Amino acid sequence: MDSVIASLDEERAIEKSKDDLITNVSHDLRTPLTSILGYLGLIQDKQYRSTDDVLKYTEIAYLKAKQMKSLVDNLFEYTKVRQADTKLSYNRIDLTQMMEQLVAAFELDAGKHGLKISTDEPAESMFIEADAEKLGRVFNNLISNAIKYGVGGQNIYLRAKFVSDDEAKIDVLNDGPRIPAKALNQIFERFYRVEESRNKDTGGSGLGLAIAQSIVALHGGYIDVTSDDEFTVFSIHLPIKPGEKLKQAKPQMLS
Ligand SMILES: Nc1ncnc2c1ncn2[C@@H]1O[C@H](COP(=O)(O)OP(=O)(O)OP(=O)(O)O)[C@@H](O)[C@H]1O
Ligand SMILES: [Mg+2]
Repeated sequence: MDSVIASLDEERAIEKSKDDLITNVSHDLRTPLTSILGYLGLIQDKQYRSTDDVLKYTEIAYLKAKQMKSLVDNLFEYTKVRQADTKLSYNRIDLTQMMEQLVAAFELDAGKHGLKISTDEPAESMFIEADAEKLGRVFNNLISNAIKYGVGGQNIYLRAKFVSDDEAKIDVLNDGPRIPAKALNQIFERFYRVEESRNKDTGGSGLGLAIAQSIVALHGGYIDVTSDDEFTVFSIHLPIKPGEKLKQAKPQMLS
């Protein structure tokens, strides 16, 4: 009997979580859509004084449409990586090389935000086996965050090391404003954004870290985070060989 009740509770929890997902998505799609319709409406009704006005309205509508696209893309990615049977396609990856490529890829964007991205002096190759494309997505999400929320700081560092015979750890550090301790254990939840960052026009969907965490979990690893006045550090712990599962050494989020 107890088990029947337990499974009913579980079913209700899943139902509720799906409803929450739909509520969030509808809200996050409706906000930019309302604005797109508003500005296109102004153009349609000829409620503008000059070509500059028209250009301004189209620019806003375009930006909001891009925001919607990014939400839909992220959502698609999120549901894909949440499926436990998602297949990974393993490649041999040199972490040292990967970090150098990431620095090159993000240098310009970081620079535009007044930040410098770097990695330790080129050390020897560090090979692991992982899904290169998905892992790329993880770094993309973490580094984009470091750029987006690290404004006011100066640096973003990438560093990798083997912590044991079977575990690699890759850190993404930035010296921007700290993440409040009480938010640390929630930032990996889908749609969660720290209040201040909600108000800023950073336009995120709150899915980046949830996606990153799911991808790392598919690899048998985990991500943890620490944040103080000096640094915010996201650490990706990955098994070196496919099919292995790391035991999480520490509680997932530390303050
Ligand atoms: N390096 C960081 N420094 C400070 N705050 C961060 C950092 N990384 C993430 N955060 C906080 O965690 C929240 C969740 O991040 P996440 O990447 O999941 O969503 P997002 O960046 O808001 O949107 P998305 O990545 O889907 O575009 C962010 O809104 C931000 O408040
Ligand atoms: Mg993000």
